[in-house]
Amino acid sequence: MVKRGLPVRTVGITGTGMYVPDRILTNTHLEQLVETSDEWIRTRTGIRERHIASPGTPASDIAAPAVRAALKSRGLSPEEIDHIIVTTVTPDMFFPSTACVLQDKVGARNAWGYDLSAACSGFIFGLAAGYQAVASGSVRNVAVVGVDVLTTLVEWTNRNQCILFGDGCGTVILEPMDEGEGIIDFILHADGSGAQYLHMLGGGSLNPPSHATLDKGLHYLYQDGKAVFKIASTSMADVTMEVVERNGFAIGDISLIIPHQANLRIIEAVAKRLGIEREQVLVNIDRYGNTTAATIPIGLHEAALSGRIKKGDLVVLTSFGGGYTWGAILLRWELDTPQG
Ligand code: UT7
Repeated sequence: MVKRGLPVRTVGITGTGMYVPDRILTNTHLEQLVETSDEWIRTRTGIRERHIASPGTPASDIAAPAVRAALKSRGLSPEEIDHIIVTTVTPDMFFPSTACVLQDKVGARNAWGYDLSAACSGFIFGLAAGYQAVASGSVRNVAVVGVDVLTTLVEWTNRNQCILFGDGCGTVILEPMDEGEGIIDFILHADGSGAQYLHMLGGGSLNPPSHATLDKGLHYLYQDGKAVFKIASTSMADVTMEVVERNGFAIGDISLIIPHQANLRIIEAVAKRLGIEREQVLVNIDRYGNTTAATIPIGLHEAALSGRIKKGDLVVLTSFGGGYTWGAILLRWELDTPQG
């Protein structure tokens, strides 16, 4: 196998967990909020329902059960975790970091950590950072957490966006591996000129919160859906092909591609550009909507639990999001399918 300049210590995923709030918002509910229809939402986005947090729920409350589940699946106690990377654009607050809040909440008292902001690509950026920390030998293990409560940034009167998002968390544990290949390679990109198409302008040092920023709605997410749609489809497909081919594989060797879940039509466009069948690509947007940093680890957890990916399978994770940020990670799945 060609190793592309990455450190030599082999690192892989040894545990997974997820959590979504109990509250479900269906398309029919949304029909009562804005002028839309279940039919429009299903055909234009693939979403049927999404889980949303009760008002006042911080990201750390959604992340804590997912972290506990991932630790349990690996058989680790919270004290045994060395490092926590929380990827989110909806942290509990600016500071302290949600990683610190979470460390306290789950009792991971020997861990240090930080938050990482790469919007929908947060999880794959965090996985790459976690990989490097374990590969370098500086930590024994990492909990990489993809969590967002994006419904807190949604303008509920705007039908272009309130239909798209849900809340949730997925977490993986990364550790050195004695055998197998774990994470084989990753390619990450950023293009800051894309910020104009996908952003939230208010609340930071550029536009500190004030009555004026509230009146202008700067605390809401903004996206130019059409612009993002086009570039997301081509970028995810092209970076997937690049990471597959530069490691000596063909796209047909990949058992499952787990793309960021922003729109079913984007996922279908990715499959078409790669020349693969829909079955080779994971889709769960129908049940969760776009959970931002959580889409990929939730998909990975469900695929592992259901046996959709099995020990020895090659898997690609790919994402596109605010920044712009995008990338792909190639890995060989090393866990047995859980029994029962
Ligand atoms: O994860 C972060 C990255 N984000 C993304 O990747 C999102 C990418 N973009 C998208 O998923 C799609 O662009 C959207 C789902 C946001 C919008 O779908 P679209 O097919 O691009 O629709 P559109 O914005 O072109 O709107 C088409 C029509 C418009 O009506 P007119 O002007 O043709 O009369 C909209 O006003 O559909 C209308 N429309 C709706 N109608 C019913 C927009 N939203 C709705 C709605 N219900 N919820």
